[in-house]
Amino acid sequence: MERAKTTLTDINRKKADGVKISMLTAYDYPTAKIIDDAGIDSILVGDSLGMVALGYDSTVPVTMDEMIHHSKAVRRGTKYAFLIGDMPFLSYQVTKEDAVRNAGRFMKEAGCDAVKLEGGSEVADIVKAIVDAGIPVLGHLGLTPQTVSKLGGYRVQGKDADSAKKIIDQALEIEKAGCFAIVLECVPDQVAKIVTEKLSIPTISCGAGPYCSGQVLVTNDMLGLFDRFVPKFVKQYVKLSPLISDAVKAYKDDVEGGKFPGKEHSFVIKEEEMDKLRKA
Ligand code: KIV
Repeated sequence: MERAKTTLTDINRKKADGVKISMLTAYDYPTAKIIDDAGIDSILVGDSLGMVALGYDSTVPVTMDEMIHHSKAVRRGTKYAFLIGDMPFLSYQVTKEDAVRNAGRFMKEAGCDAVKLEGGSEVADIVKAIVDAGIPVLGHLGLTPQTVSKLGGYRVQGKDADSAKKIIDQALEIEKAGCFAIVLECVPDQVAKIVTEKLSIPTISCGAGPYCSGQVLVTNDMLGLFDRFVPKFVKQYVKLSPLISDAVKAYKDDVEGGKFPGKEHSFVIKEEEMDKLRKA
């Protein structure tokens, strides 16, 4: 029997059944295809795209057009996973109309199943407007990289009782506004556990420990493809950068040493055709 496409109902059922939800990011067709074929529940076209694939210093410069371009590529490689497009900075904060229109672009142009956006009470009305338009919304609390400047850097959030209480309250608020799940980024395990117990929707941990309903990692981090910094919460399952570097150096040596291409990589015509060619 062919594997069925993962739906919102499957994601919600996993929390109810105590089965963890797996999510990874992707930004292009081949990576999405590998992740999808491996059976991951959900693929997020994160705006981490800006840092790990486009070379920006933060996620702030990422545009809607860049997100749509990459989401379309990921869609082409994704047959089964629940596909979520990440709304970039200022694509949803200015007006509700803008937010709904931009969320709609992820669905209509890129074929996403849902969108993600960052923030708590300040975006509750926006979440409601997008959900009312029929678009599922994944929330994102804790370390919210689009507002890293306001947060004073990439640091763990909710380390004292007051800030932890704020995360819990905000989670309840955006759940009420209609989020189908919430990413908790860089939040202490105990705080994430309380949020997970208080909410009826799933929580997805990105550096928020084992008690959440699921886990998400930036694929380039877990594959060792992005070395500018490796967050403490990332487990690197392989270090691809040095492997790729070795392959590229070997190719350079082969080209310079005349070892590539070999006979097995070349096309030849028959000797009689060569004779004709010489006489022509
Ligand atoms: O942009 C992204 O990839 C994210 C995940 C890290 C949750 O927001």
